[in-house]
Amino acid sequence: MASDIWAYSSPSWGGAYVIGTARAVNADFVRDLGADEVIDYTTTDISELRDIDVVVENAGGAASVRSLRTLRPGGLFLHVAGPGLDVTEEQATARGVRFQDFYVAPVGTDLENYAALIDNGKLRVHVDQVFALEDAAKAHELGETNRTRGKIVLAL
Ligand SMILES: NC(=O)c1ccc[n+]([C@@H]2O[C@H](COP(=O)([O-])OP(=O)(O)OC[C@H]3O[C@@H](n4cnc5c(N)ncnc54)[C@H](OP(=O)(O)O)[C@@H]3O)[C@@H](O)[C@H]2O)c1
Repeated sequence: MASDIWAYSSPSWGGAYVIGTARAVNADFVRDLGADEVIDYTTTDISELRDIDVVVENAGGAASVRSLRTLRPGGLFLHVAGPGLDVTEEQATARGVRFQDFYVAPVGTDLENYAALIDNGKLRVHVDQVFALEDAAKAHELGETNRTRGKIVLAL
């Protein structure tokens, strides 16, 4: 997934209006993935957004605090980020928003649904680089740069 995705109600696929956050160099890429709008988080303070229904928080750190501020009462803070989240469930609850941890798990029925979305062109997956399994360490190093686009694949 590219971008810290924000969504609020409005018609588009799935019924959400999607705002992605990315640097300007990645704006067209994120828009091409389906975001209705892209905000450059390096030049715009995302915490000024308001009345967001769902934050899919994958940036962590101080960005997670800014994203929490944008949610409407009753909104959902979906914690996808890896390490360094600066928001606790207690803080979210105190602001009147719901907090949910999210971890991708290989569930057969979900994968079938994703495959159907890919088949009908509603979901596109961008592969950044493919590594042989013995080069898994290199793949990890690349991932840790936070400068990749889309997925890093290990070939078996
Ligand atoms: N829980 C799970 O199941 C799960 C699943 C997938 C990923 N993750 C974790 O989520 C994190 C992100 O992974 P990803 O694959 O989504 O990465 P990604 O494809 O690189 O997406 C990160 C997005 O966030 C943007 N971003 C970076 N810093 C930001 C900030 N300070 N404020 C707002 N937006 C910012 C990036 O923009 P630029 O690239 O333009 O800087 C990029 O668009 C990693 O820690 C990963 O381990 C967890």
